[in-house]
Amino acid sequence: MGILEVKGVNKRFGGLQALGDVNLSIPENTVHAIIGPNGAGKSTLLNVLVGKLIPDTGSVMFDGQSVLGRKPHEINQMGISRVFQTPEIFADLTVMENVMIPCFAKRDGAFELNAIGSVSSQKDIRLMAETILDDVNMLDKRNMHAASMSRGDKRRLEMAMCLVQEPRLLLLDEPTAGMARADTNNTIDLLKEINEKRNITMAIIEHDMHVVFSLAERITVLAQGTPLVEETPENIKGHPKVREAYLGEAQI
Ligand SMILES: Nc1ncnc2c1ncn2[C@@H]1O[C@H](COP(=O)(O)OP(=O)(O)OP(=O)(O)O)[C@@H](O)[C@H]1O
Ligand SMILES: [Mg+2]
Repeated sequence: MGILEVKGVNKRFGGLQALGDVNLSIPENTVHAIIGPNGAGKSTLLNVLVGKLIPDTGSVMFDGQSVLGRKPHEINQMGISRVFQTPEIFADLTVMENVMIPCFAKRDGAFELNAIGSVSSQKDIRLMAETILDDVNMLDKRNMHAASMSRGDKRRLEMAMCLVQEPRLLLLDEPTAGMARADTNNTIDLLKEINEKRNITMAIIEHDMHVVFSLAERITVLAQGTPLVEETPENIKGHPKVREAYLGEAQI
């Protein structure tokens, strides 16, 4: 039984079957990659996993509880965080302020502490944010404005904003998209460290096979919304179903 269990998920957008009978089981503390060509349904699946999209049929259980129909802050409180396909950071705030933001919620126009993870005071939040910035090698940039940072740094900042929520499951939508190779390699090392040090289960959507093979223990290949094959990295190279998924494009 995985910490994340997806069963029989279907989702249509009008006449388009974006997800068709998706089943997925991700064991605790593992890294699972979801790959597939553009439009295969990867981001749609991630939206379902964070409760943002309700599937037409099927269930999504995280640690025995359904995620469906929950609000974003409830999903975070359950222990699920997500890095979006496009970084979602506050450009006019500093790095430190960005990392502290997820620990607050706006109520009646005022910011209040949001009970996420183990933080319960403003001092806790500052300490936690500093520890996490140190972990992602950004402590020296804590007073920089997010707008002035490189794409790779913005991605690392977004990861820090997830880690401050002390997730048990981290979902990443193309975490290295648009990065130079050196930044990609740093991100791989960082994700390995996070997975090992913090025991965080990860599901990664990724087009870059170097990233997939460096990190994933299991790989699901999605094509036209349906998982074609789920395998270990060793067994997926040259798999005929992968060629079928990419319609002959050389990917692996
Ligand atoms: N809100 C929506 N309304 C209608 N169609 C949608 C919606 N969201 C996604 N789609 C369609 O569903 C299909 C799957 O899209 P999705 O974004 O999940 O693909 P993807 O695998 O993440 O692709 P990429 O690799 O390009 O990010 C696409 O055909 C897309 O156009
Ligand atoms: Mg996508």
